[in-house]
Amino acid sequence: MVGIFSLVTGWPGPSGFGSSSTAEQVTQGIDGTNLTAIITGGASGIGLETSRVLALRGVHVIIGVRNVKAANEAKKTILTEIETARVDVLELDLCSIRSIRAFADNFIALNLHLNILINNAGIMFCPFQLSQDGIEVQFATNHIGHFLLTELLLDKMKNTVKTTGIQGRIVNLSSIAHTHCYKNGIRFDHINAKDGYNDKRAYGQSKLANILHANELSRRLQEEGVNVTVNSVHPGLIMTPLFRHSAVLMRGGDDLLRGPPPTAEGSHREILCRLQ
Ligand SMILES: NC(=O)c1ccc[n+]([C@@H]2O[C@H](COP(=O)([O-])OP(=O)(O)OC[C@H]3O[C@@H](n4cnc5c(N)ncnc54)[C@H](OP(=O)(O)O)[C@@H]3O)[C@@H](O)[C@H]2O)c1
Ligand SMILES: *[C@@H]1O[C@H](CO)[C@@H](O)[C@H](O)[C@H]1NC(C)=O
Ligand SMILES: *[C@@H]1O[C@H](CO)[C@@H](O)[C@H](O)[C@H]1NC(C)=O
Ligand SMILES: *[C@@H]1O[C@H](CO)[C@@H](O)[C@H](O)[C@H]1NC(C)=O
Repeated sequence: MVGIFSLVTGWPGPSGFGSSSTAEQVTQGIDGTNLTAIITGGASGIGLETSRVLALRGVHVIIGVRNVKAANEAKKTILTEIETARVDVLELDLCSIRSIRAFADNFIALNLHLNILINNAGIMFCPFQLSQDGIEVQFATNHIGHFLLTELLLDKMKNTVKTTGIQGRIVNLSSIAHTHCYKNGIRFDHINAKDGYNDKRAYGQSKLANILHANELSRRLQEEGVNVTVNSVHPGLIMTPLFRHSAVLMRGGDDLLRGPPPTAEGSHREILCRLQ
């Protein structure tokens, strides 16, 4: 309750920052020149602003995206503002296990450190659809994709902590929507079933899975004595392209969005929830 209250009022919490604080304010005075961060879906919405501000603080940012062209545009925009920015784009489709493995291999081949992993990419309220691996797309993208990515990069992060002594960070973008799940929580035996599928509850389910994994991984790393913290954040309600599948919410936020809102919900939902 306190969380929701401060979310709405923007009043600062114990950290001194609240929901009305900007990323620039929160990172003021931080020198990130020795840090490398991966951010998934870092070419739009919250991810883009996170990439921009990390780059502003000197962090070497690797954006993992499925739309490489859009990410290169985003990179250009960041470089126009911050000439010294170190931003690289690597292809990553979280909906494809093969793509995730390729991304991890490509990143590891760069021989960089990995201090920060931000599991940001996500889709919301998609009509029922299976990924090429046969997994329901919201669960595949939001949870399974990041789960695998984190597993594949964990040794890299542990080694980075060992060699640099700098605490590692894993951040999962979750959502307060995790409370709006299926009646019995995660439908473990029916993850990929069309029967009884509900687009909102399936999103909530994927976000609940994010939080449970963050909690469990955090526990395991502490037990192992590894100095990597795992955090889940609810970013607040921000009008981003995420809402493209939600015509009602989109209309409410039209003026805040750059692109045109969907007109015929059905066709847009199909196009925008596309699998690549
Ligand atoms: N905005 C909010 O109010 C809000 C509230 C609670 C939680 N969140 C969470 O915050 C995170 C960021 O959301 P946002 O609002 O910034 O949304 P957004 O602007 O739609 O950004 C999501 C990003 O994820 C990428 N993505 C989607 N599917 C992908 C895939 N299969 N592989 C790789 N990248 C993929 C998108 O890339 P494409 O352009 O290729 O689709 C996009 O760049 C999400 O995890 C969301 O659940 C947001
Ligand atoms: C970055 O690393 C160098 C070399 O280890 C060190 O001298 C410098 O103080 C570090 N900078 C910051 C901001 O931690
Ligand atoms: C969230 O965090 C943990 C550790 O970062 C990871 O193992 C887990 O898979 C992530 N949850 C997601 C995105 O499902
Ligand atoms: C983890 O790293 C932080 C800062 O880098 C340090 O303050 C803290 O003592 C470290 N914790 C452990 C358990 O090593």
